[in-house]
Amino acid sequence: MIHPDCERILLTEEEIAEKVKQAAAWLDERYKGTTPIAVSVLKGSALFFCDLVRAMKTPVFMEFMMVSSYGGSSVSSGIPKIVLDLSASVEGKDVLLVEDIVDSGHSLAKMRALLEGRGAKSFTVVTLLDKPSRRQVPEQADYSCFEVGNEFIVGYGLDYDQRYRNLPYIAVLKESVYTK
Ligand code: PRP
Repeated sequence: MIHPDCERILLTEEEIAEKVKQAAAWLDERYKGTTPIAVSVLKGSALFFCDLVRAMKTPVFMEFMMVSSYGGSSVSSGIPKIVLDLSASVEGKDVLLVEDIVDSGHSLAKMRALLEGRGAKSFTVVTLLDKPSRRQVPEQADYSCFEVGNEFIVGYGLDYDQRYRNLPYIAVLKESVYTK
């Protein structure tokens, strides 16, 4: 049953699970014989990250970072802030950055500059969702599971005002919820 604050389901649990499997297979191929540092960009990517690394056969180190750009608003501020940093050095390491969504691209640009600047040997980005219509900087993930339009979506890690993250599907939020 759909959450009453949601208008319609955009991506079902099954559709997400299938794409996660495909992304994991792509990563297994790419990282054959290596052990990358998989970085979850909190909080949005937490659910996708856990499902993705669990579906991978490649061993990975797990790290977490928190970058915030939306605050309590429905529109990205374009000024990402690092709230939580990694606990390990990425120097000379293969870094796999896992995002839930690439929207304006500012968060990704910041992470890329930061981690490449710290001497990562390689930098690969996997995102669950890509919203190219909202891009402000020329950023792109190496692998994107789904392209979405300019709708306000929540679930499977994505929030509005910290809510709806644990919905198992991705849904379009009713406009009345965020225009209150
Ligand atoms: C979201 C999302 C990405 C970023 C994408 O994070 O998780 O990290 O915004 O937007 P951008 O491409 O416009 O930079 P948010 O700042 O909302 O924090 P959250 O992950 O804790 O929800």
